[in-house]
Amino acid sequence: MRKLIAGNWKMNGLREDGTALAKTIAERARGNDAPEVDWLVCPPFTLLHAVADQLAGSPVRLGAQDCHYAENGAHTGDVAPAMLRDLCCSHVIVGHSERRQNHGETNELVQAKAEAARAHGMTPILCIGETQAERDAGRAMDVLTRQLEGSLPAAGDGELVIAYEPVWAIGTGRTATADDVRAAHAHVRAQLKKTYGEMSGAQMRILYGGSVKPANAGDLMATDDVNGALVGGASLKPDDFWRIGEAAG
Ligand code: 13P
Repeated sequence: MRKLIAGNWKMNGLREDGTALAKTIAERARGNDAPEVDWLVCPPFTLLHAVADQLAGSPVRLGAQDCHYAENGAHTGDVAPAMLRDLCCSHVIVGHSERRQNHGETNELVQAKAEAARAHGMTPILCIGETQAERDAGRAMDVLTRQLEGSLPAAGDGELVIAYEPVWAIGTGRTATADDVRAAHAHVRAQLKKTYGEMSGAQMRILYGGSVKPANAGDLMATDDVNGALVGGASLKPDDFWRIGEAAG
């Protein structure tokens, strides 16, 4: 399966540097020596328009970091899926642990967002992952099961991507070992097959996220059932982001 290398810029970037970053990635991805991966960048809402302009005519896709589940209406500060589609987004991250933690997002809400994204022709990147305390208590796999059971969208048309992001590995410089990642991804794969059937479950990409850097990307991307990366900090550095793609290609 061709790997997806997705950059989650989080709450970073003003017009000047965000535009420059997107331009650099788009130019490289257009080049003949680009690795055989799919590229995606997910800037903050404020930069979607400007970044879309930079990516036009390049193979780099555009994603958002969140969406509301409603069509439109009285939801101050929220952004509807149709608005993202209108800005050429093909993907939207839902259920990132920073939203689950900082905004109290529940599995039920994440599921509604994933279904709304799909209804508008976008691919949700649904994030799951255990905390350090849950891992220490030997509950990591149970937590993943519960999150998947509660937040996977109902079977239907359209793509779905899962991102396994252990909370303790995000922005900490600590990466899960290849064995931990292999076990978690096998667990997710089994759950996807159970929910959507053998064929569909086998075709969905499962990304790893959490302190992915050029130095560890080779090992992580060579791990069974790892179909790409969701990259935070390193996606803000074009050379690092590029090298992660090369390691995956
Ligand atoms: P870091 O790569 O900065 O650890 O962030 C990972 C992440 O949360 C991507 O969504």
